[in-house]
Amino acid sequence: PSYDVVIRHGLVATACETMETDIGIRGGQVVALGKGLEAGRTEIDASGKLVLPGGVDAHCHFDQPMGEEGLKMADDFLSGTRSAACGGTTTVIPFAAQIQGESMRAAVEDYHRRAEGKALVDYAFHMIVTDPTATVLNEELPSLIAQGYTSFKIYMTYDDMKLNDRQILQCLAVARKHGALAMVHAENTDCIAWLTEVLESAGHTEPRYHAQARPMVAEREATHRAIALSELVDVPILIVHVSGREAIDQIRWAHGHGLRIYAETCPQYLFLTASHLDGGYEGAKCICSPPPRDKANQRIVWDGLSDGLFTIVSSDHAPFRYEGTDGKKPGGKEVEFQYIPNGIPGVETRLPLLFSEGVRTGRISLNQFVALTSTNPAKLYGLNPRKGTIAIGSDADIAIWDPEKQVTITNSMLHHNVDYTPYEGMQVTGWPVTTLVRGQIVWDSGQVVGTAGYGQFLPCGKPDMARPKVSDTAAAGHYVGNLPTALSKLARSAHA
Ligand code: URP
Ligand code: ZN
Ligand code: ZN
Ligand code: ZN
Repeated sequence: PSYDVVIRHGLVATACETMETDIGIRGGQVVALGKGLEAGRTEIDASGKLVLPGGVDAHCHFDQPMGEEGLKMADDFLSGTRSAACGGTTTVIPFAAQIQGESMRAAVEDYHRRAEGKALVDYAFHMIVTDPTATVLNEELPSLIAQGYTSFKIYMTYDDMKLNDRQILQCLAVARKHGALAMVHAENTDCIAWLTEVLESAGHTEPRYHAQARPMVAEREATHRAIALSELVDVPILIVHVSGREAIDQIRWAHGHGLRIYAETCPQYLFLTASHLDGGYEGAKCICSPPPRDKANQRIVWDGLSDGLFTIVSSDHAPFRYEGTDGKKPGGKEVEFQYIPNGIPGVETRLPLLFSEGVRTGRISLNQFVALTSTNPAKLYGLNPRKGTIAIGSDADIAIWDPEKQVTITNSMLHHNVDYTPYEGMQVTGWPVTTLVRGQIVWDSGQVVGTAGYGQFLPCGKPDMARPKVSDTAAAGHYVGNLPTALSKLARSAHA
């Protein structure tokens, strides 16, 4: 046969178009699109199904040791990528987190060992910079960026992660010079610390007070500051996990001023509210940062998806068990909210939730859905066109969806290693029934068929979207257009 796999009779959608076509796959890549393709060694009948590029989950945490308490995440690269595959995701970008006082390269090597031989789907790494020493800034980051680690996250809060404004500027300057994309966790750390103290001294220590300790104004202030720092250095940034109106207002303001600010949101800000933190200690299950807000904010986040404010939707899968010695009850005990690890699971439910409540309701189009969950994250992190689309020459990373399948989400049907899902009992319509990674079926008809270690590490290219815009007023009069920075600099110096 001419093809290893042919997927027939499906409705294929990319970020740009929707078409009835068959897909011919050979050597792990899409090699033919069209009707009436010759036989494949494996034939998949996708009649009545949607055939979409596999999801790219560009924000998930696997096997990340947490702080000094030695908390362990419930998902490693095996269970985390298994869960991803079963939810239609074929590429994940988890984090390699630097430990303060240690090297960034050591962290990257450590996470490679954690992933080695385990992943069912392909993976890249973002770095997390927690200690931008001169060596990290001048040597490690430039060489790591050149080797395919072209994005890093910086935190404005969490004592063991946060950077001050000057350190952030230094990191952004490295991103600009070397073509990396910086992701920013924007919450004002001192506001949170002070509010936490006030709440604690009033005896307010239950999980629900986590939301009061991290109000929208703390997110708004930090978002605005991150935008200002990005403007000062003249480099695009991504604001991760945007929770609601206040941060969105800042991002709209930035867009109105021509600044290249990208924004990410997550299902928790579309499906949960702060009231999920109520109800005693069980509220710990929905503790994440920023916290979920209210119904009105959910609607504003949906608006941002439909009108293009947001570039990507990621899960921010941060897997901590509820019961047991690790996780939400550290040491098996109910603790004050500030000691509960932040983050919720969602790598498997990200796509079905957004499809059901986004596409089926008409809030976003099918093409927008593909853009937000696959194409845009692949572009933003330098993986496109290999990942994030269905095109000749692209990897055959494909999720075949039954758009009519009715599912009541329960934790027992999920494939992560967390003992709960925040979405327990939610009804959705549409679910990925078959997932292929580079032409190999990894998830089919309710069975995991992928094998640990099949997933490959992906070095990322320097993302085009991280290019600074040419905005030097000194260059006015010798208009150089929207050229890459290196060229615009050359143009300027030639006219100096
Ligand atoms: O609460 C969250 N989001 N925890 C995960 C780590 C992060 O800040 O993304
Ligand atoms: Zn974060
Ligand atoms: Zn995160
Ligand atoms: Zn001139």
